[in-house]
Amino acid sequence: MSTSPGIGHIGVFTSGGDSPGMNAALRAVARTAAHRGVRCTGIIGGYDGMIRGNVTDLGPRAVSNIIQRGGTILRSARSEEFRTKEGRAKAAANLQAMGIDALVAIGGDGTFTGARLLFEEHGVHVIGLPGTIDNDLSGTDRTIGFDTAVNTAVEAIDKLRDTAASHDRLFFVEVMGRDSGFIALACAIAAGAEYVMLPEVAQRIDELVDALAQAKQTKSSSIVVVAEGDEEGGALEIAHKVKSRLPQYDMRVTVLGHLQRGGSPTVLDRVMASRMGAAAIDHLLRGAHDAMVGEVCGTICLTPFAEAIGRRKTLPPDLLDLLPVLAT
Ligand code: F6P
Repeated sequence: MSTSPGIGHIGVFTSGGDSPGMNAALRAVARTAAHRGVRCTGIIGGYDGMIRGNVTDLGPRAVSNIIQRGGTILRSARSEEFRTKEGRAKAAANLQAMGIDALVAIGGDGTFTGARLLFEEHGVHVIGLPGTIDNDLSGTDRTIGFDTAVNTAVEAIDKLRDTAASHDRLFFVEVMGRDSGFIALACAIAAGAEYVMLPEVAQRIDELVDALAQAKQTKSSSIVVVAEGDEEGGALEIAHKVKSRLPQYDMRVTVLGHLQRGGSPTVLDRVMASRMGAAAIDHLLRGAHDAMVGEVCGTICLTPFAEAIGRRKTLPPDLLDLLPVLAT
């Protein structure tokens, strides 16, 4: 493989909300770099660590026994200082002082926004990996951690359905996703929910109340999955509104929260993260930068950061249409 002149040392970091599979990606980055004869340094604590020069050698042995672990061994932190030109200049100066020629950034849209500025202001070559449970990045069918988060949430919803059925109850279950509904929609289909509230779909409480009243005629209990970013509010607020319209219903609310961010990554996340981590090194060595590695229809591809961040990813319309049919 012809390598880009001058890339003999890369840095890698994790940033933003952590996600299961980040460690698998770190492992693949470190071991592929070693295999290509490139030194690999781990930056601890995301952009904050870059500014403070908090780093560790990330050789092949440093990433042993982590592929099965959730979270990220390099930790993550949000950095206010990096939002300033001065902070970014400090970070760039540290990279230069450490002899780091290019970066692999594992995170979400905020991470890639910072990476773009590092390139625009200091010419730092960065390749991104989509590390977020939200699955809200264009240029990839799935983000690292999405599959694990949905499996975690569905396992919890299956448990809630047991008790809902025992007590003829209506359950509202809130899932993460920030301002996107990918987790909620996948959970609703996989857990057989009767209804889902999504930020991308303008649903009104009236529609929900009508659907629940209709379901009650044939079902003793129902599950409503609520994406945390829904415009009608979170699960607690929506349940309160429904209760005022259906006071005869016995209902409960569960907010799954950060449970969805932890746990051992699924095989799908481990394999995809490993593929992406290896691809990131090879793309950097070919001189690629300012872009995100993705997997689309099973094929690894590269999408400019501007597109990955700027183009809002749309929910699969066939799944939106399928839910009410399967909830009959
Ligand atoms: O972006 C990942 C995510 O888990 C979102 O789904 C969620 O809204 C947010 O992070 C929570 O952020 P924090 O961990 O800072 O509370």
